Amino acid sequence: MIVIEKILSDEEVNHYRQQLAECPWGDGGKTAMGMAASVKNNNQADSSDAKVSQLANLLLSRIGETPKIVSAALPHKIFPPCFNRYSETEEYGYHVDSAIMRIPNTTDVLRSDVSMTTFLSEPEEYDGGELIISTEFGQQQIKLPAGYAVVYPSSSLHKVTAVTRGQRLAAITWMQSMISDTNIRQNLYQLDQTIQNLIKENNTSRTELDNLHNVYHNLIRQFATL
Ligand code: NI
Repeated sequence: MIVIEKILSDEEVNHYRQQLAECPWGDGGKTAMGMAASVKNNNQADSSDAKVSQLANLLLSRIGETPKIVSAALPHKIFPPCFNRYSETEEYGYHVDSAIMRIPNTTDVLRSDVSMTTFLSEPEEYDGGELIISTEFGQQQIKLPAGYAVVYPSSSLHKVTAVTRGQRLAAITWMQSMISDTNIRQNLYQLDQTIQNLIKENNTSRTELDNLHNVYHNLIRQFATL
C-alpha cells in the first residue's frame, strides 16, 4: 500500500470539484458487478459526459507522470478513472473488485491488479467515509488530504465506511500491471526505490548503479506479461 502525496495540486482539486458539481450523476450501484452491487450505496459521475471524461484523462496523464506510481504499479493498462460521491449515510460495504473489467467503449478488457483511490475532499469536510483495506496485518484505515492518492492491491477485500457528516468525493481507477504477482511487484518497487535513492546520494559508483539497473530491467524482462 503506497500513499502518493499531491498527485493533484490544490488548484487542480478545485477544478475537479467545480467541474464535478456541474456533471450528471447516477446511482453507483449500477456499475458494480454481482455481489459488490448489493453493498454499494453511493453516486457516480456519468462517465459518458464530456467533462467527466476530460477529468478522467487529466488524472490518467498525472498517473503516467508520477514515477512513484509507475514504479509501484508498473501499469500496462489503466481503466479510465471513475468519480464517486458519498453523501450522509452512504457507504460501500466489504467487497472485492472484479478481476476482469471491460474498458468502456472498447472491446478491450483489463485484469485489475492495482487499485488507486484519489481523495478530492479534505478529511475535515466529512466524518466516516474511511477506506478500509483488509490486509494480512489487519485492517488499514485510510483517509487522506484532497489531492492525495493511495495505491493498493486489487486483490484485497475493502470497503468505504458510512459517511455520517458532509460529503466524500473521490476518484478510483484500476490498473493491469505488467507484473501480475503482488510479491514480485513489491520487490521490484523496493529495488527501484533503492536504486533511485542511490542515484540521489551521488557517491555511488556508476558501474555498480549500471549493474543494479541491469538487474532491475532483466527481472522485468523475466516476469512482465504484455
Ligand atoms: Ni472496490
